[in-house]
Amino acid sequence: MLAVLPAFLSLAPVAGAQDVVNGEALAKRWCSSCHIVTATATKGEANGLPSFPMLAASPKTTEASLRHAMTATHSRMPDLSLTKQEQDNLIAYILSLRPR
Ligand code: HEC
Repeated sequence: MLAVLPAFLSLAPVAGAQDVVNGEALAKRWCSSCHIVTATATKGEANGLPSFPMLAASPKTTEASLRHAMTATHSRMPDLSLTKQEQDNLIAYILSLRPR
């Protein structure tokens, strides 16, 4: 346990990269039952729902629009009660899929 801790702490300064990694894990766990969450995902319904790579590629997608989509109980998407931290990680991940 103690041996693991220093290695973990040494990763902490790269917060941006770590947010993306956490966000990807969250997306796979919480969002992939409905959305296609990676460029290579094979499961997740297409079904008219925006895939995460599609969302990332849209010029209309911003941090604010993503946060709104995750927090508002609108339409057919359930309220997932995400914490601020989880929202930040998911936003970092989705925006990291943006084509460059
Ligand atoms: C139970 C199915 C379901 C799950 C799970 C789900 N979504 Fe959705 N999501 C939807 C549906 C349905 C829509 C389309 C909403 C609409 O028609 O307005 C949507 C739309 C969105 C949109 C786009 C909104 C827009 O304005 O175009 C975003 C962003 C989004 N979801 C993010 C997420 C994230 C992040 C997660 C995981 C934390 C997630 N969704 C989990 C069903 C789901």
